[in-house]
Amino acid sequence: MLRFVTSNAGKACEAREYLPEEVERVEYDYPEIQSDSLEEIAAAGARDAYREIGEPVFVDDSGLFIDAFEGFPGPYSSYVEGKLGIERVQELTHREEDHRARFRAVVAYADGDGVETFDGSVRGRIVAPRGSGGFGYDPIFEHRGTTFAEMSAEEKNAVSHRGRALAAFGDWLAERE
Ligand code: IMP
Repeated sequence: MLRFVTSNAGKACEAREYLPEEVERVEYDYPEIQSDSLEEIAAAGARDAYREIGEPVFVDDSGLFIDAFEGFPGPYSSYVEGKLGIERVQELTHREEDHRARFRAVVAYADGDGVETFDGSVRGRIVAPRGSGGFGYDPIFEHRGTTFAEMSAEEKNAVSHRGRALAAFGDWLAERE
């Protein structure tokens, strides 16, 4: 059984679809360090959660990186989503010529041996909102003609940043056994 420390139910659902083992969601609100690096944020969170919970855990830190804004909002995606909302992020992006963006996710796993990180990314572009699935910026992120909010969980996992990071994590777990 794997313990996923996250307050985000959407992330937990995706991990369940993907990982071979059972995933239990643990709601511990670890203090997020401020950094431009998802790796640093995820690793610090996993270390902290492992110390607190005393069992092996993993966390995910992810974000939307918009090319025209040099990667903004990146690690601040959750804050910007809450303050501006995804429609305004889309409007601001569409004032620029370049609508390309990337989602990135880093999964960090911590146990008594230390911390391992696994990352994944996916390219797409920012579009007017479409679809009702997923969470966060999914309705405005289009990948090969379909927004993430128009995809099923399986379809999104097959191409998404989190799916790719979870796949690398799953491979590592399988090799370790
Ligand atoms: P975190 O909890 O600091 O990792 O924040 C991640 C934030 O990035 C979320 O609150 C969303 O705003 C955004 N995000 C990350 N992954 C996704 C995704 O798969 N779909 C949509 N938004 C995402």
